[in-house]
Amino acid sequence: MSKIKIDKNIFSKKASWSFGKNIAPKFDNHIKKSVPMYKDSQWLCKELSDYFVKENSIIYDIGCSTGSFLKQIAIRHKAKKNVKYYGIDIVKQMITYAKKYNKIKNIEFLNKDIKKLKLKKNDFTISFYTLQFINQNYRQAMINKIYKNLNWGGAFFFAEKVRSYDARTQDMMNEIYKEWKYNNGFSNEEINSKTKSLKGVLDPFSTKGNLELLKRAGFKDISTVAKFVCFEVFLAIK
Ligand SMILES: C[S@@+](CC[C@H](N)C(=O)[O-])C[C@H]1O[C@@H](n2cnc3c(N)ncnc32)[C@H](O)[C@@H]1O
Repeated sequence: MSKIKIDKNIFSKKASWSFGKNIAPKFDNHIKKSVPMYKDSQWLCKELSDYFVKENSIIYDIGCSTGSFLKQIAIRHKAKKNVKYYGIDIVKQMITYAKKYNKIKNIEFLNKDIKKLKLKKNDFTISFYTLQFINQNYRQAMINKIYKNLNWGGAFFFAEKVRSYDARTQDMMNEIYKEWKYNNGFSNEEINSKTKSLKGVLDPFSTKGNLELLKRAGFKDISTVAKFVCFEVFLAIK
């Protein structure tokens, strides 16, 4: 199968998008360019983390990629004693990169599959744009595990691409997102190639689907804290 161009120096194949190979050094720049309100969502997560990160807290970032965001959170709370951070990613190259460039003393980066990882009791679980890559069969079990391992009063902050509630708005949002990417510096060829490479790999739920996952797990206090076109950020408090 022939290679298709996704971004400057990033290539893939149809239905074969992967976070491995040599993506890690280019990843932070690629995602910032690809996801609307990416930096704003990170800002929001840091602001909200002030309500949940305390002395002796444990914090998780599931699907941490290069670890650059977890490092920002750790730096923000550096005055709090005995806080421990875990960055989890299934891709070895991401964790190798995170350990090299974003390691600080209270962060541990683990090359693990969230499906198999036993979580410790924690106060704040973060996951940016990762659930959408987890097999649908396993997604409920993953949210159940996150809920079960949060301390009472702890929170799950996560961001996802979301499908629309009906076909008409789904078409509209797809077109508007393509336009957003074009205005953000991608060529039409790169936009189409990324869509092709993500086929069968990226599988988002709708807003309703995500809310139902959270409710079935036991979360009661659930808010959408940001939404733009087909991207949504949720805060679910235990
Ligand atoms: C879109 S990226 C996440 C971006 C990152 N959180 C950020 O905000 O920049 C999705 C990440 O989830 C990881 N991932 C996918 N499936 C996973 C799994 N089962 N367990 C752990 N990590 C997983 C991928 O390797 C990838 O690095």
